[in-house]
Amino acid sequence: MLCQPSTCALTMLAPAKLNLFLRVVRKRADGFHDLETVMTSINLFDTLLFEPTDSSEVTLRVVMASSQNQNSLPPAPIPTDSSNLVIRAAQLLKEYAGSSAGVKITLVKRIPSAAGMGGGSSDAATTLAGLNRFWNLSRTREELSELASQLGSDIGFFLGGCSTAICRGRGELIEPLRIPTSLHFVVARPNSGLSTPAVFKQCRPNESGASVEEFAKSLQHPGNCRMVRLLLNDLQAPAESLNDDVKQLRQQFNKLPVLGHLMTGSGTSYFGVCASSRHAGMMAARLRAAGVPWVHVARSCS
Ligand code: C5P
Repeated sequence: MLCQPSTCALTMLAPAKLNLFLRVVRKRADGFHDLETVMTSINLFDTLLFEPTDSSEVTLRVVMASSQNQNSLPPAPIPTDSSNLVIRAAQLLKEYAGSSAGVKITLVKRIPSAAGMGGGSSDAATTLAGLNRFWNLSRTREELSELASQLGSDIGFFLGGCSTAICRGRGELIEPLRIPTSLHFVVARPNSGLSTPAVFKQCRPNESGASVEEFAKSLQHPGNCRMVRLLLNDLQAPAESLNDDVKQLRQQFNKLPVLGHLMTGSGTSYFGVCASSRHAGMMAARLRAAGVPWVHVARSCS
């Protein structure tokens, strides 16, 4: 296929996510786990810049955005080769579309890695959607979703463009949810990260656990404390058994006057649900004063 390479640069934002509910239903024959999870994207973003190049190569440069978190250690370097999902997504789309176009990608990283906030998955989804536009490929949402599921379980959520959804199966079956108002959070991450496969390996699935539908219903009344009571993450206990920092964060959040708190995804990030952005700001100040390395005030995207 002949593609008209773009002559203009394109900038896109890739949001982070939080899992408000995550039930591990069963282990599957392919080694993955069937999940029932509710994900919401939050206003913490990586930035991707796609620029034209004369070459047919896909290249990636990663810039770490400066952080206001004084207590945090410098983050581990992010790879720029094919171990980065951005390169894998670009190569997969290029191959699928039979394109010979190249692109220079700059990724400005703000979402912490190995943190359960879906940063790599969101970057990959944004690369698929961004390059579809940048290379004028006109691939459908369904085609991009199929490519997304080849790259990772969470990528379809970010591709869908909905801010909140129930995700089932491996995580790739998306049912968008409308929530009436923004939710407010304080998000914290220790200096250490966790490997997703390692956490899943420790997990004992539970076929008869809490209902994701009931949780989704409770989101329609976020002022209602029912939603907070139903927060659930089946990966939290396995993550705590592998990483003491997560346990310590839980203990710190236990002492904070937040509405409720939970680890997100496979960790290590942890969030508190707050009544307002002001409340979240006050909780953030307390966590920073207690020496928590990375703290961010966030709200769900609308
Ligand atoms: O799909 P993704 O690359 O994000 O998954 C990373 C790893 O997490 C998988 O290799 C698997 O070990 C585990 N996983 C799982 N069940 C899922 C999602 C991820 O077991 N639904």
